[in-house]
Amino acid sequence: MSAPNGKSVVVSGVGSYTPPRVLTNDDLSKMVETSDEWIRTRTGIRERRIAAPDETTSDMAAKAAAEALADSGLKAADIDLLIVGTVTPDMPFPNTACFVQQKLGMGKVPAFDVEAACSGFIYTMEIARSLMLTNGYRHALVIGAEKLSSITNWQDRTTCVLFGDGAGATVLSLVDEPGVGILQSLMGADGTETGILCVPGGGSASPSTVETIERSMHTIHMQGNQVFKIAVRVMCQSAVEILGKAGYKAEDVSIVIPHQANNRIIEALAQRLGIGMDRFKINLDRYGNTSAASIPIALDEAHRNGRIHPGDLVLLVAFGGGLTWAASLVKWQ
Ligand SMILES: CC(C)(COP(=O)(O)OP(=O)(O)OC[C@H]1O[C@@H](n2cnc3c(N)ncnc32)[C@H](O)[C@@H]1OP(=O)(O)O)[C@@H](O)C(=O)NCCC(=O)NCCS
Repeated sequence: MSAPNGKSVVVSGVGSYTPPRVLTNDDLSKMVETSDEWIRTRTGIRERRIAAPDETTSDMAAKAAAEALADSGLKAADIDLLIVGTVTPDMPFPNTACFVQQKLGMGKVPAFDVEAACSGFIYTMEIARSLMLTNGYRHALVIGAEKLSSITNWQDRTTCVLFGDGAGATVLSLVDEPGVGILQSLMGADGTETGILCVPGGGSASPSTVETIERSMHTIHMQGNQVFKIAVRVMCQSAVEILGKAGYKAEDVSIVIPHQANNRIIEALAQRLGIGMDRFKINLDRYGNTSAASIPIALDEAHRNGRIHPGDLVLLVAFGGGLTWAASLVKWQ
């Protein structure tokens, strides 16, 4: 989408928060029949963070947002749009963004959630960018936050080894300069694959009952193999398509921030793009898959560790339940 009136939307601040409690692969091997070796070789994950029982998604989101605000030099009162990407809202409603607004003491600005699973952060960022360009919002707080431990079946070794908790946030700002910041984004979904990665219970299809709880329908259900194959395909297609649309080649990309689900998926993407793994930001070894929080946490780490410089071309690319996928190309300010 080309920006009207010579304006762009730039990333003006980044922040993240991960809870202090570490759950290692060895810890998991005492809970289910698995091993550190199996988890590491199949996924690349070594450990993940787990939120405290009374720590909510909005608590983590607010902490990440406070960091992003500090990084941008703005105050909560300067923000005029707030969106949270999450599949683990504090409650079915009100939306998590309203809790974040309250916790940050923000103005009465529009606040809502976006549910696109692991693609949620890029979806959220693109929705914010579009609203900023069309409605003139000057600064938006865009957050990806998850407490996946609250929807994990801790007896299911095929899923419980993969996920973790955390939050990442960015402040987006509207600037009077064309061709900077978020240059291009794409989003897609394939609703024929809703069944391969889902939480089947607790919604209007199967409201919570004693039986749905006993059958663990309120937790993540996944056909890992199927998800893996589609993930590789849509991640590669999204990356190639967005580069083509924006008129760039893979070698122009300074750093790729992929959704942190599995090292093998990221390696397949690197191979397909012909970009070395040294140009990929990877932190899934320490955090596992944190769904909508995964990209902004990785972006924050890369930014703080000095891996992103002004003028760099940053490629964000994700896939998730739905199935959904999304990509964004950002010219760093
Ligand atoms: C989940 C995933 C790591 C499994 O790896 P895989 O190589 O596909 O493994 P399989 O599912 O074929 O399972 C192989 C064997 O390991 C076993 N296994 C599964 N989980 C295990 C675990 N945690 N520890 C030990 N063994 C395990 C399986 O039971 C199976 O045993 P069997 O051959 O006796 O039936 C992989 O499919 C994956 O990453 N998929 C994508 C998931 C994802 O990214 N989801 C989030 C999307 S946003």
